[in-house]
Amino acid sequence: MKNFENILKQNNQQHLLKYIEMADNNQKENLIKEIENIDFEQLNELYNISKRDKDKIIESCIIEHTSFVDKYKGDKQKLEEYKEKGEEIIKKGEYAVVTMAGGQGTRLGHDEPKGTFLLNVKPKPKYLFEILVDGIKRANEKYGIALNWYIMTSTENNDKTQEFFEEHEYFGYPKEKIKFFKQGNLPLISEDGKLLVDEKFNIKYAADGNGCIYKAMRKNGIIEDMKEKGIKWVFIGSVDNALLNMVDPILLGLTVSQNNMIGSKSVVKRSPEEPVGVFCKKNNKPAVIEYTELPTEMAKETDEDGELLFGESHIMCNLYNVEALDIISKNTLPYHSAHKKAAYMDENGNIIKVKKPNAYKYEAFIFDGFIFFDNISILRGRREEDFAPVKNAEGEDSPETAIKLYNDYWENK
Ligand code: UD1
Repeated sequence: MKNFENILKQNNQQHLLKYIEMADNNQKENLIKEIENIDFEQLNELYNISKRDKDKIIESCIIEHTSFVDKYKGDKQKLEEYKEKGEEIIKKGEYAVVTMAGGQGTRLGHDEPKGTFLLNVKPKPKYLFEILVDGIKRANEKYGIALNWYIMTSTENNDKTQEFFEEHEYFGYPKEKIKFFKQGNLPLISEDGKLLVDEKFNIKYAADGNGCIYKAMRKNGIIEDMKEKGIKWVFIGSVDNALLNMVDPILLGLTVSQNNMIGSKSVVKRSPEEPVGVFCKKNNKPAVIEYTELPTEMAKETDEDGELLFGESHIMCNLYNVEALDIISKNTLPYHSAHKKAAYMDENGNIIKVKKPNAYKYEAFIFDGFIFFDNISILRGRREEDFAPVKNAEGEDSPETAIKLYNDYWENK
């Protein structure tokens, strides 16, 4: 028996033999190579994750409320001190920004890199990437610097993202200040634990989640590059928030003053149902419980003032000391499973487009890196200044709601 046949038999994936029979010589060679490179031990572990009861994961931990500093209601003098401290670090050139842009705009109905989505804002439409460039340019002008900008892409969207930047001449940003790096990916698994194959006879893969950013930064020499450049503090943010403020000296000054290695910005959760992660202390360590894993009862719990007990939303505005990135990147983060729709080719060569979720996708979550520290500084901002997510094609968190938030903010500025 050939090596790949053995592998498939041992791992209960013999259905792939049918695809090997159907494929032409090139496709066959590729598929066999892919099979030989899969870490089946990891794959089996991942499949077991999908079978776990999500409520039980949380129930087995001690979850507590978390503390924060309010950017607008806090002690004015202290906030001013944080601002000065943060600005000093930024002006010294010790600050850099990172954008996680490995995702596609699928939920938006834009099957392209999410950052290439055009938002019809005033006075002229802007791409999500362009809005980020605007923000960095403003900070550069204000502090007399040129920030280094690192952009994480995925196998799926790397080429298209880089071509987009070339085509738009980097929106006027100095090209030498931008570095792209790629995150990894993991196979999708069907509900009965089988690998899926696409119409080109390739195993179906998906990006391994934004939590793999730490590993990807290490692997691609990004942490090294930051250290060589004398960067000490790094902001990591998402690509899909039209009001993302990547350079907030108060968040930086607060984190430094509280002697923490990590910090984050929050806003008050809109309702128990809002699809955002919430900050908490999990077994006495800083953590976020993702909306997909927060039990409904907990999501609704309120304190004596009627405010949500788990109401500090994680809006993907995270700050790290470069040493913190080093620590997290040397550790392993857990994977979480998501039940997704995935088109595939069946064993007779038919392309199957599905209407209901049929496969598991595995992702690491960025905030699972917080657990390696005793504390995190949280700065509560304001939704109308900090958070205009562009997630869905219509309704809440859609281009329509983000455009309104963006226009209102800039008209009143
Ligand atoms: C995410 C957060 C959630 C938060 C919400 C705020 C995680 C796991 N969840 O949820 O806690 O409240 O945003 O808007 O962080 N990305 C990659 N590679 C990947 C997956 C995602 O780069 O493999 C990037 C996306 O391009 C985007 C960001 O991560 O910039 C958020 O990803 P998305 O999957 O849309 O997160 P949400 O489910 O909205």
